[in-house]
Amino acid sequence: MSIPTRSILLGVNVDHVATIRQARGTVYPDPVAIALAAERAGADGITMHLREDRRHVVESDIERMAAAATTKLNLEMAATAEMRAIALRVRPADICIVPERRAELTTEGGLNVAGQIDALADLTAALGESGARVSMFIEPHTKQIDACKTIGAPAVELHTGQYAEATTAAGAARELKKLRAAAEYAYGLGLIVNAGHGLHYENVTAVAAIPEINELNIGHAVIARALAVGIGPAVREMR
Ligand code: PXP
Repeated sequence: MSIPTRSILLGVNVDHVATIRQARGTVYPDPVAIALAAERAGADGITMHLREDRRHVVESDIERMAAAATTKLNLEMAATAEMRAIALRVRPADICIVPERRAELTTEGGLNVAGQIDALADLTAALGESGARVSMFIEPHTKQIDACKTIGAPAVELHTGQYAEATTAAGAARELKKLRAAAEYAYGLGLIVNAGHGLHYENVTAVAAIPEINELNIGHAVIARALAVGIGPAVREMR
């Protein structure tokens, strides 16, 4: 399938701005203010993950971000009744359904879409009716991609964690090959293909070169870089 030439989109995840705020229970730094600065520096979207334990962004951040975004808000959320109700009220442009475990440091592994077809089809339909573009955060496996197609999700976000965490060049090459094949397969099914997790200024280039990928969502590396150079330069360098 031929792929139209386009520039890849960058979604900046500002969760870790809120992580610093929550560490002290202060009102600063404000993830929304940093997100607006990221937009001015060229971010194509802002991602926030509202976790069940509210360890970083909280509900009011999501509300303020949805109202203030000049690009679009991508809300990452678990497939729970509580999050469904919040998403239907706040109505972000994009929603990415992620697996969530309380004890994890960050999202570990992709969502098992194939194992919960009915529940996720229902959730995707409800969120889609509210106007959101819904994606599923999945491992780069055909079984999960097929399941995303079955439930009617318009988009997938391929988990790049295995690639990012590979400890050898051969391992990274193997994982990159899986990402390439999955992107091609999902694109061939008519799905929008996004990707993210663990990407940084060095390992991003090979993933950004996969022609089927529409958007990369990157958080930790950009916010960490912003400590040294400021959020504007950090976003521009990543672009
Ligand atoms: N995409 C998804 C679905 C995520 O859960 C995360 C982490 O919150 C990211 C992208 C960004 O990952 P990182 O912070 O490692 O760039």
